[in-house]
Amino acid sequence: MKKPILALALLMIAAGAAHSAPRATKKVVPEKKEATWNVQEGEQIEALTKKGDRRRGEEAYEVCGACHLPSGAGRTDGTFPQLAGQHSTVLIKQMVDIRSGLRDNPTMYPFAATLTDAQELADVSAYIESLCIPLDHGYYDSKPGDAAKDWKAPADTAQQLAQGKDLYEKECVTCHGANGEGIKDKFYPVIAGQHYKYLLRQMTEIRDGKRRNTNPDMVRIIKKYNDRQLVAIAAYQSSLEMPGNMCKPKAAAKKK
Ligand code: HEC
Ligand code: HEC
Repeated sequence: MKKPILALALLMIAAGAAHSAPRATKKVVPEKKEATWNVQEGEQIEALTKKGDRRRGEEAYEVCGACHLPSGAGRTDGTFPQLAGQHSTVLIKQMVDIRSGLRDNPTMYPFAATLTDAQELADVSAYIESLCIPLDHGYYDSKPGDAAKDWKAPADTAQQLAQGKDLYEKECVTCHGANGEGIKDKFYPVIAGQHYKYLLRQMTEIRDGKRRNTNPDMVRIIKKYNDRQLVAIAAYQSSLEMPGNMCKPKAAAKKK
């Protein structure tokens, strides 16, 4: 049953230009829901109480891997977020929000909608949570791609990281943790290992009231930050690592 959907996902990827997210050809989007945060109801409660089966989750994840990659790493350009190692609570909440029209995601909606029931949400979340967080994600000073020939790493990286650390530790650390580990029981997401560009886009959308499923306390806090400060915080956040949860670095190349 999943095969035609996987084929569709691959087709969309192939059709999408290298730099733009693939889009559903048919307009299948849910009706937009009013902003709320974490109202526990319906399939969210159900999925949270079910024990996820990783093996079945791996199968259900097949279609997701087309965009988020089989490793869960997403893309360094931030179009598709890194998912590996995210708390299952957060994964379930985000998928339920996308399915219900509370969080806009027209690219992913057709696929999120095909997850059959609460059990499948629990399964796929248990599987994703069990994956190690890739180290080679998008950083502030990542090269944008092979096409960027004359690209030079930004000279202000150290300065951005220092300023970002300062801001992050003042107002974000209580919820997202010193290493970006979030808080599972409270639905606070893992930030460690996330792509710089995705973080920056989410923070901007949250600040500007475009992500309607966000925690209101966070919105209140982030409202006062300007674009420059968000760049610094995103730079710092993407540098965070959760000890024990990151994938092992690949063995260093042998010296000649
Ligand atoms: C066609 C591409 C595509 C497919 C297939 C896809 N996604 Fe996504 N997904 C996205 C995009 C794009 C975003 C980020 C949207 C944004 O910027 O807000 C996203 C966001 C998410 C998020 C929120 C992440 C966060 O940090 O808040 C979760 C969870 C997620 N996807 C899980 C899945 C799962 C599970 C599947 C398979 C059932 C799946 N996705 C299939 C494109 C896709
Ligand atoms: C009161 C707790 C709280 C505080 C304080 C807070 N956040 Fe959040 N943050 C959250 C929650 C909860 C979410 C997920 C929202 C949702 O459920 O959709 C989130 C989401 C995010 C995301 C998007 C993650 C993703 O995977 O999509 C980023 C980035 C982020 N926060 C950065 C920050 C920064 C930077 C600060 C400080 C300026 C901050 N947060 C302060 C609770 C908090």
